[in-house]
Amino acid sequence: MDMSVKIGKMKLANPIMVASGTFGYAEEFKNITDLKQIGAIITKSITVKPRQGNPPPRLWETTAGLLNAIGLQNEGIDSFIKNRLPFLRSTGTSVIVSIAGETVNEYAYLAEKLDTPGVSALEINISCPNVKKDCRLFAQDKTTAASVVKAVRKSTKKTIITKLSPEVTDVCEIARAVEKAGSDAISVINTIRGIAVDINTQKPRLANITGGLSGPAIKPIALRIVWETKEAVSIPVVGIGGIMTASDAIEFLLCGSSAVQIGTANFVNPKVSLLVLKGIENYLKQKNLSGVKDIIGKALIKK
Ligand SMILES: Cc1cc2nc3c(=O)[nH]c(=O)nc-3n(C[C@H](O)[C@H](O)[C@H](O)COP(=O)(O)O)c2cc1C
Repeated sequence: MDMSVKIGKMKLANPIMVASGTFGYAEEFKNITDLKQIGAIITKSITVKPRQGNPPPRLWETTAGLLNAIGLQNEGIDSFIKNRLPFLRSTGTSVIVSIAGETVNEYAYLAEKLDTPGVSALEINISCPNVKKDCRLFAQDKTTAASVVKAVRKSTKKTIITKLSPEVTDVCEIARAVEKAGSDAISVINTIRGIAVDINTQKPRLANITGGLSGPAIKPIALRIVWETKEAVSIPVVGIGGIMTASDAIEFLLCGSSAVQIGTANFVNPKVSLLVLKGIENYLKQKNLSGVKDIIGKALIKK
């Protein structure tokens, strides 16, 4: 069975990635699952300086999902390169480093720093407030989104995946802008902001008030956005949002995802990625297909 897929210059053994922020720096999972069988590992988003993140409580489980307000807690780029990258390099799989900045220059700086062996690609998390402009997310404006991608493109020859926010009026215009700016691929979606309230204390559940919703609750929205994005651009799209099982992942592949990311499901079962991979292989066998490429985009209606 040919499970390989290509994203930019990166050839992956299979289309299964673990999503940023839900798999730590992978070392936490080394005794639980066989890391080298995962198509690619995406790290927690890394910033220039260490960040403490938001005060607790930062997580709240909802009926069909998870609200999180971690606030990009991470140890900063220098510590990441010194203390985390050596292990990631040793996993034997592709390593994608997620980067997040407060300014365009910070993204460029992070990309330069990561121009080092053992990093297969960068995922640009542009769902961060643009502190210089108006505190809207970089991902919410086609010009700012493109300016981040252009700056990163100038700083690295590595594959760039730009991760878009679902919180926009027209994701297609943002997708086209980042493609034009030099992104090799697009990943969708990041979380969708929500609120939960404790009726006893009559206060929000999260100290930050709002949190990003992930998990099964967002899957239909994510599938719709993958579909729209795939129709808007010619670069590969990586689908994310509520994947718990192989059949969820297959839906994303059929809607045009060249690869998929598994996030919240890692908290339910840290071995889930390899179960999803096995399930996709079984599905392809049952359908008498020779590889995963046979189903990518199959559900898209050709105009
Ligand atoms: C606890 C938690 C932390 C996350 N941290 C990040 C992050 O640092 N960077 C990022 O781009 N996305 C982050 N995400 C978003 C996920 O990568 C993913 O886009 C989202 O959870 C939707 O996928 P899922 O429904 O499979 O979880 C985080 C999600 C969760 C649940």
